Amino acid sequence: MKRLPIGILGSGKGSNARAILEGIRSGKLAADARLVVSDVLDAPILDIAREFGVPNAFLPPGRFRTRLEPEAEDQLVKMLRGAGVELVALAGFMRVLHEPMLNAFPRRVINIHPSLLPKFPGLEAWKQALAAGEKVTGCTVHYVDEKIDHGRIVAQREATILPNDTPESLHSRIQILEHELYPAVIAELCERYREANL
Ligand code: GAR
Repeated sequence: MKRLPIGILGSGKGSNARAILEGIRSGKLAADARLVVSDVLDAPILDIAREFGVPNAFLPPGRFRTRLEPEAEDQLVKMLRGAGVELVALAGFMRVLHEPMLNAFPRRVINIHPSLLPKFPGLEAWKQALAAGEKVTGCTVHYVDEKIDHGRIVAQREATILPNDTPESLHSRIQILEHELYPAVIAELCERYREANL
């Protein structure tokens, strides 16, 4: 069967990466995880890649905080291309991508974000939703462009905000939805890839 070669980028604990890799292992996702890359040397996402036997690498990000140094972004393109990646899934990758990546993978970079975009882009979106007194929030998978948490929306899931929610309880409920939504979207893209229609 024709499998979609994917790369996963993340900076943190990697629970979405785990959900994707479990989806592949269980046969629900016709993808081939070619490479996991992190800009954080000791990020748990790299341990998860090792646990699943997926090639993985630390990419030194350079001197900026919210983006990669241009040379690092060029290096990232080389790594992903070298691994034959055709879809890049951001899973808690906390840097904004720019031209090198977006030109190399046009309409082939997706992201998951813990809010109902266009509401609450940026950091700790669940806290933003709580502070704004929202009754409903959720998560969004979208194509990536040069703006933070912006680009064509592919799918969303809603989570009701409960009166006694803390930031932690809300984020963990959103993450349960993320772990369903992200593999489901990627499964759909795998299907399109198989039909040569990605
Ligand atoms: C997820 O909640 C994801 O939506 C969020 O980071 C978390 C990563 O968790 N991403 C963003 O906020 C992007 N702006 P994980 O490392 O356990 O997958």
